[in-house]
Amino acid sequence: MAKYSIAWMPGDGIGNDVMEATRIVLDTMKLDAEYVPCDIGWEFWCREGNALPDRTVKALQGTTCGLFGAITSKPQDDAKEELAPELKSKGLVYFSPIVKLRQMFNLHTNMRPCKSYPGNPLNYRGTLQANPSGGELLIDQVVFRENTEGMYGGVEFYPLPESVYTALCANPKMKPWKDKGLENVALSTRIMSKQGCASICRQAFEFAKKNGRKRVTLIEKPNVLRETGGLMMRVFREMAKEYPGIWADDANIDAICMWMFKNPQDYSVLVAENMFGDIVSDLCAGLVGGLGFAPSANLGDKYAVFEPTHGSAPKYAGQYKVNPIAMLLTARMMLDWLGEKERAAKLESAIARVIKEGKVRTYDLGGSGSTLDVAKAIAAYAA
Ligand code: IPM
Ligand code: MG
Repeated sequence: MAKYSIAWMPGDGIGNDVMEATRIVLDTMKLDAEYVPCDIGWEFWCREGNALPDRTVKALQGTTCGLFGAITSKPQDDAKEELAPELKSKGLVYFSPIVKLRQMFNLHTNMRPCKSYPGNPLNYRGTLQANPSGGELLIDQVVFRENTEGMYGGVEFYPLPESVYTALCANPKMKPWKDKGLENVALSTRIMSKQGCASICRQAFEFAKKNGRKRVTLIEKPNVLRETGGLMMRVFREMAKEYPGIWADDANIDAICMWMFKNPQDYSVLVAENMFGDIVSDLCAGLVGGLGFAPSANLGDKYAVFEPTHGSAPKYAGQYKVNPIAMLLTARMMLDWLGEKERAAKLESAIARVIKEGKVRTYDLGGSGSTLDVAKAIAAYAA
């Protein structure tokens, strides 16, 4: 029996391309693992009315962790449109299978490192003020995104059930919507718990402590989202007292987008609730070369699913054109989590070396190499 059992979930679009690339590297590195193919994604929504079939959930329960490629998610009306004809009248509701997976397996922490590798032509050069010399700005940030609560918790209504509407209308602040009429109102909630806030802040502080990081920045908007944002901020500030060596500060989501663009090298560890973490992690990815360089890990207490931050880029599906580096950095995170420290370090330095040499590059880096060419070049150094 293999040492690890890994749920293999390519998902949609270029998910297949980058997972195939990853397999080349893992096989070359002789990871002692069996890979369990699992159905997930748009195809299964269209065919079966469920993007996360029960058989997949069951299969995952028997594995050490999961590796996931990418997912296509569409708004409700478009999703219904693409259902198989015999399923159209069944009142099925689409949900994002990755968001669902995070909740089902209580993968409460989404860790997203954004690190620049020297020699990447897409490395950020910053503004004239922050970087008068114009050379590459090397950034090394890690985003901790709360992964199960907040705006992505899935508590949404349209139309609003009468009971919810009536309860809300007891609040005089509801007058503007009451005037517009029940049938014209949709509701998405932002529900956050003290436990959820504490858990993500703890992960961020502990990571900073273990890795000698000097600053942890909370991203919120408590001046407007007074209750949920206020709760997160209180929890963060209270916890910060336990880490006297770390500079704990906070910024509003809008302001940080500007500051990060101007002075990204000033930030180190970032912590946020679900939606703000989603937004800011794409911003951070942009600062280190784009989504082709942004890995992520969905971490629970005992289980984890690793996925690149990028989407499924359907127009490139099957063309082996896209950059596999985000996926390979994701595999590196998986190796690290499995305790395969040596392999993880080897893989990262192989990736860094291929980036620096610049001989094999995909189109986003101005090259003409394929997804698999890049994987093979990296595999050769990681072997
Ligand atoms: C991400 C993605 C997902 C999310 C989508 C595909 C549901 O944007 O992992 O950042 O919003 O969490
Ligand atoms: Mg996102």
